[in-house]
Amino acid sequence: MIILGIETSCDETSIAILDVKNKKINLIGHTTFSQIKTHKKYGGVIPEIAARLHVPKILPVLNKTLSQANITPAKIDAIAVTAGPGLMTSLMVGIHTARILSYIWKKPLIKVNHMEGHVVSALLTHPMKDIKFPALCLTVSGGHTELVLIKKWGDYTIIGRTRDDAVGEAFDKVAKLLELPYPGGPALSKIAINAKNPTIFPTPMINSPDYDFSFSGLKTAVRYHIETIKKNKPTLSTEEITDCAAGFQKAAVDVLISKTKRAASEYKTKTILIGGGVAANALLRERMPEILKEVPIIKNICIPAFEFCTDNAAMIAVAGYFQAKQKKFTTPEKIKPNPIWEIGEK
Ligand code: KG4
Ligand code: ZN
Repeated sequence: MIILGIETSCDETSIAILDVKNKKINLIGHTTFSQIKTHKKYGGVIPEIAARLHVPKILPVLNKTLSQANITPAKIDAIAVTAGPGLMTSLMVGIHTARILSYIWKKPLIKVNHMEGHVVSALLTHPMKDIKFPALCLTVSGGHTELVLIKKWGDYTIIGRTRDDAVGEAFDKVAKLLELPYPGGPALSKIAINAKNPTIFPTPMINSPDYDFSFSGLKTAVRYHIETIKKNKPTLSTEEITDCAAGFQKAAVDVLISKTKRAASEYKTKTILIGGGVAANALLRERMPEILKEVPIIKNICIPAFEFCTDNAAMIAVAGYFQAKQKKFTTPEKIKPNPIWEIGEK
């Protein structure tokens, strides 16, 4: 089965083509245009600019992906597109493109939840047979922090989520406080490696009996720490910046690991997956195996390759494949963007 995936929910214009045979996923074309350079000037994604920039890029990205895959549109079985969550006007560009392609190429159309894309993204790196159910996915991105229970592909229940900031958002905000370049998450984790004496910060909700998270208090603790240093001098030294970055990162990762461990143990999940931009974080990736050691029921941990952690259309095509198998299609007339669409919700 050949699936074309389209992703434009935020600031990446991405199109992928998957060829799935005997449950083996082959990515035969994948092009992503990132708008990071433009948004860098503003220190964050400006929704109106993001949507406008998708428009001139989407057809060149499509043409490039088709030529990489070396196929004609006639060979494509279905078109999968992100319909939410995300930025309304950015989503509209991908949806309009998918709608028109579905109409003129006469292909079935699939609406995909962006967070479902992150949940299945590890399948671009690990074989399908590696995932044993029930499985648990820690989805950590710029807008979401969720623990998702997976009974089977397509059957998702959120068992825990952030009550305030997403962990990626906290990385970005703390990076801004430390005056690091945009995007903050990767910049912060890069310098944290050099820390000699990481600052100790609180680990919010680590012992709460539920599986929810909270990162806004941690960000505020970092802000107070910086303000205290700045009472005596105008700027932080390089050492103070790296110690602060490493301390924040450790506190955030401690909470993520601890809650995932406890949820895996209570729900007796056999496989742990991670997905989303923060899954690219080196410390989180390094520490995930701790869960394997401490929760005996867990058989394995599947972490996507770096390129599939941040937003990409390959993961949207994988999620689309599972729906295509069940013939869960929509139509160009029916599909519409839903900026607040939750995984598991119809
Ligand atoms: O999944 P994603 O590309 O977009 C959303 O759906 O939000 O995630 C982007 C988020 C940003 O907050 C970014 O700072 C964070 O992922 N991120 C990282 C790293 N790489 C990206 N956070 C921590 N460490 C990283 N290495
Ligand atoms: Zn994302």
